[in-house]
Amino acid sequence: MKILAIESSCDETAASVVEVKSGDFEVLSNTIASQVKIHAKYGGIIPEVAARLHVEKILPIIETALKEAKTNWEKINYIAVTGGPGLVSSLMIGVETAKTLSYVHNIPLVRVNHIEGHLLSFLDRSKKQESKKTKKQVFPMVGLIVSGGHTQIILVEDYLKYKLVGETRDDAAGEAFDKVAKILGLGYPGGPAISAMAEKEQGLKVKGQREKIKLPRPMIDKGNFDMSFSGLKTAVRYLWEDLSKELNKKDLEKVKPLIAKEFQEAVIDVLVTKTLKAASKYKAKSVILGGGVSANKSLREALDVAAKNVGIKLFVPDFKLTGDNAAMIGLAAYYHIKKKDFIDPFKFKADPQWELV
Ligand code: KG4
Ligand code: ZN
Repeated sequence: MKILAIESSCDETAASVVEVKSGDFEVLSNTIASQVKIHAKYGGIIPEVAARLHVEKILPIIETALKEAKTNWEKINYIAVTGGPGLVSSLMIGVETAKTLSYVHNIPLVRVNHIEGHLLSFLDRSKKQESKKTKKQVFPMVGLIVSGGHTQIILVEDYLKYKLVGETRDDAAGEAFDKVAKILGLGYPGGPAISAMAEKEQGLKVKGQREKIKLPRPMIDKGNFDMSFSGLKTAVRYLWEDLSKELNKKDLEKVKPLIAKEFQEAVIDVLVTKTLKAASKYKAKSVILGGGVSANKSLREALDVAAKNVGIKLFVPDFKLTGDNAAMIGLAAYYHIKKKDFIDPFKFKADPQWELV
């Protein structure tokens, strides 16, 4: 079967064609028009600007996705779209477009939760996911979702059977990266900027500074699976203010990689510790990672080492499927299609607050 998927929940206009053949997933196209450069000028997303750009891009992006997949409307069996959560004005563009296309081409429509998309974004990398044997080997799963808006640990007992195990009580992990990048003057989006800066830390010579740059690992020893990143961001701000008084401009620039590295490690320590603790409690056979922050190489490595240590499988998405994209919506849609969980285009509205769990 071929699924045409649409995603427009935030600042990426995306369309994709996903093919599912005897339980194996293949992403035939994954087309994204990113608005990042435009929003970077403002240091964050302006919803009205995002919505206007979605309107301009959505139809050409869908056409491109079909073309890149070397297919056409006659061969599309289902349409999937992100129904929420996200910015309402952004979501609406994708949802209204999907509804219209579903009606015009007479193709069943599926709505997918954005978080479920991130959660299942690994699917095209794991062969025979559908076989009974594989299912026995991988379930229950513990999923770590780390994006700009969400940080959640989700127990996946089976597809479509999710339970919230823990989440951030304040800022999402990606949001913390973005805010810390702003404090350090590294621009938007902050995640890639922080991780690039952290890589410059190796072998750096800054006399007497290394010892001073220590940050907390909030809630790491607490018995639950909740997290908090707002205090960590504030700790970076105080540290930066203190160092700004103490050091000259040149030396201040020099310590940036140390701060970026320490911040990144603090976030990763918390995420990995909590995820592995949850995996142990729920006797998980595998861990899955998803969301924009899953592009972070140090996070992937740390989780890989920790999972290997306890003999648990780790599934991570292809780098192209870490940030917002429509392929992940097509992948997750498959399980709704299997259950004939279709939605009537005339009764469907975008839901900016839609919670998966
Ligand atoms: O999933 P996503 O594309 O959008 C939301 O649904 O929120 O996630 C975006 C977030 C941003 O906060 C961005 O800074 C972060 O993912 N991010 C990263 C990296 N690449 C993107 N964070 C850490 N390291 C990265 N390499
Ligand atoms: Zn996202």
